[in-house]
Amino acid sequence: MKARMPNTAVVGVQWGDEGKGKIVDMLAARAGIVVRFQGGNNAGHTLVVAGEKVVLHLVPSGILHPSARCVLGNGVVMDPEVLVAELDALEASGRKVDAARLGLSRDLHVIMPYHRSLDAHREEARGGGSIGTTRKGIGPTYEDKVARRGIRLADFIDLQVLASRIQQELPLKNRQIVEWYEGEAHTAEDVLAWAAPLAERLAPHVCDVAGELHAALDVGTPMLFEGAQGTFLDIDHGSYPFVTSSNTVAGAACAGSGVGPGDLQEVVGIAKAYATRVGAGPFPTELDDDLGAHLRRVGREFGSTTGRPRRCGWFDAELVRRAARLNGLTCLVLTKLDVLSGLEVLRIGRGSDADGEAIYEDHPGWTEDLTACRSWDSLPASCQAYIRRVEALVGVPVALASVGPDRVEIVPVDPARSAWMLSDAAQTEAN
Ligand code: GDP
Ligand code: IMO
Ligand code: MG
Repeated sequence: MKARMPNTAVVGVQWGDEGKGKIVDMLAARAGIVVRFQGGNNAGHTLVVAGEKVVLHLVPSGILHPSARCVLGNGVVMDPEVLVAELDALEASGRKVDAARLGLSRDLHVIMPYHRSLDAHREEARGGGSIGTTRKGIGPTYEDKVARRGIRLADFIDLQVLASRIQQELPLKNRQIVEWYEGEAHTAEDVLAWAAPLAERLAPHVCDVAGELHAALDVGTPMLFEGAQGTFLDIDHGSYPFVTSSNTVAGAACAGSGVGPGDLQEVVGIAKAYATRVGAGPFPTELDDDLGAHLRRVGREFGSTTGRPRRCGWFDAELVRRAARLNGLTCLVLTKLDVLSGLEVLRIGRGSDADGEAIYEDHPGWTEDLTACRSWDSLPASCQAYIRRVEALVGVPVALASVGPDRVEIVPVDPARSAWMLSDAAQTEAN
C-alpha cells in the first residue's frame, strides 16, 4: 500500500508564474483536500492534461481530480463574478463543480465592483510610477480587510446584511472614485443587483474551512496548499512597493486557512529554470534584448490573467536561495527546462555588485529537445549539471524537473525526495 501523502504547501519562489498550477494538479492526484490560502484572481494557473489546457484563477488546481475536495481559505479575496464565470466554464467543459467539490470559507473577503474601480483608477493616477497591478481589485479589498471594513462571504450571501454594508461603504468609496479620480459613482441599487444572483449561486458552497481542515487532520486526510503569486511579490518579503497585497510565503498557508505550522510536513518551492516577472519592479537578471525575446517566444511568456508580455531573464540563484529560507523549503521543482534547449551558454545570477549589476557564472547549454525525457538518465549531461549547480547554489534538493506544460512531462530528479509526489503510473515509468 502507498504511504499517505504528507501535508504539503506549494509556493512560487520567484515573481509568480513558475508553474505552480501544473505541479499542484500533478500532486492533487494523491490529495484529499486542495486549499487556496491567499491572493485572488490576480493568479492565473495553467493546467494541461492530454493536450487540453485549463486556466484557473480562483478554483484550486486540484479540481481536475474528482477525488480531491477544493476549498478557498479565509486568506483569499474572492471576486464572485469571476468565480461564477470560472464554474460556468468548467461546467461547459463537462466538469460540474457542486458544493461537495468546492467549499468557500465564510470568512474570506469579497472583491466588490468598487474595489476593481479603485484599483484601476489608482494605477492610472500613478502614471509612469504604476505598480502594474492586474487591476482585479486585489489591493483595495485587502486594504478594507485590514481596515476592518471589508465584506466577508458570510455577510455577502445574506442580502439584508449586504445591503446595509453596501450603504455604509459606498459614500466613502464614491467620494474617492468621483472626487479624487473623476470616475463614475457606483449606486447601491446597481451593486446589490450585481450581487444578488451571485450570492444565491455561491451560498451552497459557503462553509467553515478551518473547521473542515481540523476534522481532516483528525483522520489524516492528505492536504495540499496551493500558493499564488511568488515569494518576491510578498507584501513583506518582496520588492516593496512592487508587490501584491498578501503574504505569499509558505507561512501564509497556515494563517490563510486555519491550520498550524506543525501540520505541514513538506514545502515545495516551484522555480522556473530561468526567471520572469510581469508588472513593474526590480529584476536584476532581466534580459532586455533578443535573448529575452527568445525566452518569451519559446516559453510563451504572456500573462494568463492579463495577457501582458512577461519580462524574461536568467535564473537568479541568490534570490531563490533567499526564498528557500523565507519559505522553509524542503525541496524544489525546476520547471520549463525544455525552454532552455538550444542556447549555447546559460547564465546563473549570483547576486549583484556594488553598482547593482548582476554577477553571473556561465554554464554550457544543450541542444536536445527535452520534452520526451521522463528519467534522469535521459537528460543531456549538461542539463544534469545545470540542475545540480542550481541545487548546490540554492541549498535545497531538486525533487522534480518539468520539461513541458503537460501533467506527464516530468522527470524525477531525486527518487528519495520525489517518490511521494508521483502517481503510480509515473513511478512505474520512471523505474
Ligand atoms: P503558475 O501561475 O505558477 O501556475 O504558472 P502559469 O500557469 O501562470 O505559467 C506557467 C506556464 O508555463 C503555463 O502556461 C504552463 O502551462 C507552462 N508550463 C509549466 N511547466 C512547464 C514546463 O516545464 N515547460 C513548458 N514549456 N511550459 C510549462
Ligand atoms: P500567479 O499565481 C505573476 C503581480 C502583478 C503586479 C503585482 C501586483 O499566476 O503566479 P496585484 O494585482 O496583485 O495587486 O498586482 O503582482 N502579480 C502576478 N505576477 N503571477 C501572478 O500570479 C501574479 N499576481 C499578481 O503583475 O506586478
Ligand atoms: Mg500564473
